[in-house]
Amino acid sequence: METVLSGIRSTGNLHLGNYFGALKNFVQMQHSERCFFFIADYHSLTTHPDPSILHGNVKNVLSEYLAAGLDPDVATIYVQSDVPEVTELSLLLSMHAYVGELERTASFKDKIRKQADNVNIGLLGYPVLMASDILQHRATRVPIGKDQEQHLELTRRFARRFNQFYQVEYFPECQAYTFGGELVKIPGLDGSGKMGKSEGNGIYLSDSDAAIRKKVMRAVTDSGPVAPDSPMPEVIANLFTLLKVVSTPDTVEHFTTLWNRCEIRYGDLKKQLAEDIIGVIAPIRERIESIAGDEAYLSRVVKQGAEKARASASQTVADVRRIMGIKPF
Ligand code: TRP
Repeated sequence: METVLSGIRSTGNLHLGNYFGALKNFVQMQHSERCFFFIADYHSLTTHPDPSILHGNVKNVLSEYLAAGLDPDVATIYVQSDVPEVTELSLLLSMHAYVGELERTASFKDKIRKQADNVNIGLLGYPVLMASDILQHRATRVPIGKDQEQHLELTRRFARRFNQFYQVEYFPECQAYTFGGELVKIPGLDGSGKMGKSEGNGIYLSDSDAAIRKKVMRAVTDSGPVAPDSPMPEVIANLFTLLKVVSTPDTVEHFTTLWNRCEIRYGDLKKQLAEDIIGVIAPIRERIESIAGDEAYLSRVVKQGAEKARASASQTVADVRRIMGIKPF
């Protein structure tokens, strides 16, 4: 069994792309692997979010993941700042992380450009804290996007360096988890590339039915097929990709046939697509709302998660202290 750890940024709402991408895989995977899902609120402090919104963001993300099917009785779901052990591990590991290599990471260079007046130590140490998130549970698989590959490479480097320096085989080497390359790429509704939060082309798990209808009806299309069996342009193929994940095979076939016969009416296609997206999202949205409104439940979930995560992390910190020569009198 692998130990899988997924770190979730505590900003931004989940969209359909997240859901049909990683999230549905997590929901399955939690039953077969040892899974940790946590919300990286310490990391978000590097950009100085308003204290009055930080907690709300954490709560949103947590509610959405639970609503989407992560099960706190199966996986370990926790908030990073509820597990202070990670900060000690980060301090200990920072003794073997070199300023030069941290300064050279793409994310740090990017942040220097974006927040030139706030180049704080937390930003420089971001990869060390992230490595500590992973190594505290000695995770072997870490689902990440392209933008996090360099951080994972650093994690492996820190682990190897630690093992080598202290002549131990303590930290395992973690690998990116890619879902066997089967990840469905959900396109955006603007005809350009995939759905993403920065692109503003997303349908969110928290969107109302009306919002979903409006977004889908506004999706970019073209002037229609010109000849039977003409090649499908990307903007239309994108709508079909969405249809395939939310609709029945019959519906997909129906519209495919219409397309091939040059008889398709995009308005009908979009109406159907909107209703089928609503069919997926509405129950999730209702769960999000009921979970977010249940403070007692959320507090139980994070408490249980923190306990499980701390049990795993405190063992690692105790081992690392001992390996580094910190001993009780
Ligand atoms: N840096 C990750 C991101 O921005 C979030 C993160 C923090 C993370 N710690 C992690 C991801 C540990 C995976 C493992 O998306």
